[in-house]
Amino acid sequence: MKKYYLLNIGKINLLCSVLVSFALTSCNSDPKVEMIEPVSILPMPQEFGYQPNSFILNPDTKICCNIEQLREAEYVRSMIMDVFGLELAISHSTSEANLISINTNDSLSNSKGNPEYYELSITPDHILINADSSDGVFWAIQSLKQVFDQTDHQDGFAARVQGLKIIDHPKFKHRGLLLDCCRHFFSKDIIKKYIQLLAYYKMNVLHWHLTEDQGWRIEIDKYPKLTEKSAWRIEQNGELYGGFYTKEDIKEIVEYAERHHVTIIPEIELPGHSQAAIAAYPNLSCKNQPVEVANDWGVFKEIYCAGNDSTFQFLEDVLLEVMELFPSEYIHIGGDEAPKYRWEHCDKCQKRIASEGLKDEHELQSYFIQRIENFLNAHGRKLIGWDEILEGGLSKNATVQSWRGMEGGIKAAESGHFAIMSPTSHCYIDYPLDAIDLERVYSFNPIPDSLEADQKKFILGGEVNMWTEHVPDENNLDSKVFPRMLALSEVLWTGTDTSRFDDFQERIDDHFDILDSMNVAYGAETIPISMVKKGDSALLKKEVNGIEIEYRIDSWESDDTAEQAIHFAPYTGPIDVNRDCFLTARAVKKGKPYGDSIQQKFCSKIEITELPEYKNRFSEHYSGGGNYGLFDGQLGSINFRDGNWQGFWGKNLVVTIELEEGQEVHEVSANFYHYVNSWIFRPIRFVVAISDNGIDWPKVGIETPQIAEDLRGQHIIEMKAVLREPETPKYVRIMAWNVNKVPDWHEAAGSDAWLFVDEIVIK
Ligand code: ACM
Ligand code: ZN
Repeated sequence: MKKYYLLNIGKINLLCSVLVSFALTSCNSDPKVEMIEPVSILPMPQEFGYQPNSFILNPDTKICCNIEQLREAEYVRSMIMDVFGLELAISHSTSEANLISINTNDSLSNSKGNPEYYELSITPDHILINADSSDGVFWAIQSLKQVFDQTDHQDGFAARVQGLKIIDHPKFKHRGLLLDCCRHFFSKDIIKKYIQLLAYYKMNVLHWHLTEDQGWRIEIDKYPKLTEKSAWRIEQNGELYGGFYTKEDIKEIVEYAERHHVTIIPEIELPGHSQAAIAAYPNLSCKNQPVEVANDWGVFKEIYCAGNDSTFQFLEDVLLEVMELFPSEYIHIGGDEAPKYRWEHCDKCQKRIASEGLKDEHELQSYFIQRIENFLNAHGRKLIGWDEILEGGLSKNATVQSWRGMEGGIKAAESGHFAIMSPTSHCYIDYPLDAIDLERVYSFNPIPDSLEADQKKFILGGEVNMWTEHVPDENNLDSKVFPRMLALSEVLWTGTDTSRFDDFQERIDDHFDILDSMNVAYGAETIPISMVKKGDSALLKKEVNGIEIEYRIDSWESDDTAEQAIHFAPYTGPIDVNRDCFLTARAVKKGKPYGDSIQQKFCSKIEITELPEYKNRFSEHYSGGGNYGLFDGQLGSINFRDGNWQGFWGKNLVVTIELEEGQEVHEVSANFYHYVNSWIFRPIRFVVAISDNGIDWPKVGIETPQIAEDLRGQHIIEMKAVLREPETPKYVRIMAWNVNKVPDWHEAAGSDAWLFVDEIVIK
């Protein structure tokens, strides 16, 4: 357990001196002075300090409150029953001692009007909660619950509760988790478990993603086929998968959330991510032709028709029923990833563009969102949409949720709109730990430096986004959300401060025990080892304490069999990897493998003398190790985000290298990635040319791909030019033709396509 001292001097300086004198005397024999039992509070309160001596909670302890806080007092009572097995009375009388007292009678001078502000004081006489509102009271109770959960006790007997004082308030008012219940469905009980966990860590928004291409999850009386058909998909293995929440389920969940001071913001996606609804009601789409509920991941081109008035009638009907169920100030309408292909080819949509005097399909999307916003505003609600709603002009009161970086949020704030930050760089907890680990989330700062002081107030807060394409069940969900969500909870409540990370990690360690007791199957904090290549060697590094590293080297041909898997050697220093091999490394903690192992494929590489020359620049997001990345002897894996892959967005690969004099070449090959769901296509042609003078470029190899353009799944394909006889050219030029535009048959037809390459191997 972490030992706390006062983090904030200032208002509770007094405690500091008490603590110091206590610390100096804690080992002496004075029977009146007790040992401190440290507690870990998450997120870290703004001000925290121990007080000497503790409160003894016993069957005679009374809970006392003003009448407005009776509900919170009941909550405390049932919490004490749960934690300690003690049944306490709620009393309105104010005796002098042995009290848990909840107070909201006076407006607190320190709260500065923040309704979530609270003070919690634990002394031998009482546990005292002061707040301006029941929100503040509730967060105080959650801090108290964390103290209780770390208090030794025997059920039904007195417990010694550590004396302390907390003065606290959140930095941001919107602290959320997005939970996608469409790609995979999570039961009512799991949703309630998550609401409880959100509250425990003072997160106050559940952004509930309820409609998608792969499933519609909310019962709508007026459109019964949304739950009869849209809620179910036939998986690729032929099995039926799905589910939905009935109105009764939703009422129960909303009430439960309210009880936990968590606001549920429902997300009803439009105009894209709507194929499931269209599967039941094809007239909502441009083509008015039958489609199935999607059973694959990606972005789909069947979207709501913007030229069709019945689309808006449908959406308004749906939103009316949604607003009846959800009392939230905000309704999220999605707005992301809506391919414009159907609109471009739809007479009705084109007529709408003409009749409304719109410039293009982006402005048509704005028109769509604006119409929906007017409807929501007329019903007293506000609209949130993903940052795509900025394209073609932002409607007047909309709040933007920034996901493709921070830019959307910045643009919104600069134009006086509210923004919620959840960029893929820090907040996408569906991403693997090698992309976003605990420390990365902890380093997140929702307020961009570039904003002027008076624009910063438009940043309402942030969310971690839990998309569930690859999260089929509760255990998977727990392991993705925890512990990473706790990092965001501290960022949004306490503020960004990376210097606090070690302290945070120690508190996380304490909370792993609590999470165990709540049946949360939390995952690892990070990948325990990292690898870097320096020259011809691979170096392995420990990323967490208390582990040893083991590794093994296999040839490209060897099968990864269980038998081989036991032949690991202790890592002692740099490993030569300038050869065709796999390096596998794993962490061992207390004699057992710990966390995921890492694997990297290498090849022997040739020396290139000058900086490779690119005709088209690669993407900054997929730079694949930069200028030398294609020739570094380190091969991209099946995870296209592994940092090795170099991406070209709607452009061809044309790269020229200069070889060392006399270097013989008899074969040039390159690996390409193919994953059409992410708009990544293998090239349509691969060409190698050589030159001695930089002027004449005879082609020495041309290959066309062996796999079909529409092949689904993730694939790495090698394309190769074998020279008729070995040459010793000065230059080699490698060219690969991108499909450039996503083809017509694809969900995102017409968008720019990706070409991904790594590595180029010259033999
Ligand atoms: C998103 O991740 N498409 C918002
Ligand atoms: Zn249309």
